Amino acid sequence: MGDATGAPAAAQREPELRGQTIVVVGGSAGIGLETARRARSEGAEVILTGRNRDRLDQAATAVGACRTAAFDATDAAALREFFEALPDPIDHVMVTAGGPTYRPMLEMDAAQVREALGDHVGLDLEVARSAVGRMRPGGSLVFMGGTGGRRVSRDIGIVSAATASLPPFIATLALELAPIRVNLIAAGFVDTPLSASLLKDRLEERRSELRTKLPIGRVVTAADVGALAVHLMTNTALTGATFDIDGGQQFVS
Ligand SMILES: NC(=O)c1ccc[n+]([C@@H]2O[C@H](COP(=O)([O-])OP(=O)(O)OC[C@H]3O[C@@H](n4cnc5c(N)ncnc54)[C@H](OP(=O)(O)O)[C@@H]3O)[C@@H](O)[C@H]2O)c1
Repeated sequence: MGDATGAPAAAQREPELRGQTIVVVGGSAGIGLETARRARSEGAEVILTGRNRDRLDQAATAVGACRTAAFDATDAAALREFFEALPDPIDHVMVTAGGPTYRPMLEMDAAQVREALGDHVGLDLEVARSAVGRMRPGGSLVFMGGTGGRRVSRDIGIVSAATASLPPFIATLALELAPIRVNLIAAGFVDTPLSASLLKDRLEERRSELRTKLPIGRVVTAADVGALAVHLMTNTALTGATFDIDGGQQFVS
């Protein structure tokens, strides 16, 4: 039986990731954890990484992960060792570790500017370099960016320039790694532990403001982003592209 559109009901279709293994670099909280949960519901085995061992263990239990590894993903040697130590090939890798640096540009020296412009691209490139030899044909990489940095403003400093570098970087990486597919998710505000830690006692006010302002009338959740990430893994037509998920935030704030 299908629904009114003729689409098969979810319970009756094949899980889209059955027999596949997903690695989530930064999978113990927020968007990474919800991507892992969604991938599990589609039949995948999931491997989670993060820095904090306790948080990782709790997340692994919550989603039924088959393996975990605690290390800092900005450490290229640790990344390489992690992928080399995996016992079996993997299918997809999602990267949520890393984030932007909000500082006025003139307060930064040249080394800090290089780091702010290059650290996200550098991390994603190191993951790609380490993972690709362990990936099965048909695999994909999913990286995180944002829509908030598209505007230019004194408040966000160098973040606009760093944000602008990601879509062409991802597209070029997709060409270099083909047939492995590579895609970028650009999120606005997502209700995660990271947002809670940045906003502190202004979190509820921000949620309420977004519920009023956003065209979707609600706040974007980590589960929304996880659903998009799993779609990017399973839809084999998608590569080299940037996918916005911000509830229309970029057009109203
Ligand atoms: N939340 C938003 O509104 C939003 C919007 C746009 C883009 N993003 C981007 O989306 C990504 C995920 O955001 P989120 O809100 O889900 O963050 P989160 O709630 O803080 O979760 C981040 C996850 O990554 C792990 N992690 C962070 N740094 C790591 C590192 N260096 N090495 C290994 N693991 C690391 C964290 O665990 P440990 O701390 O234990 O390592 C945690 O599991 C970030 O890149 C963020 O910039 C978020």
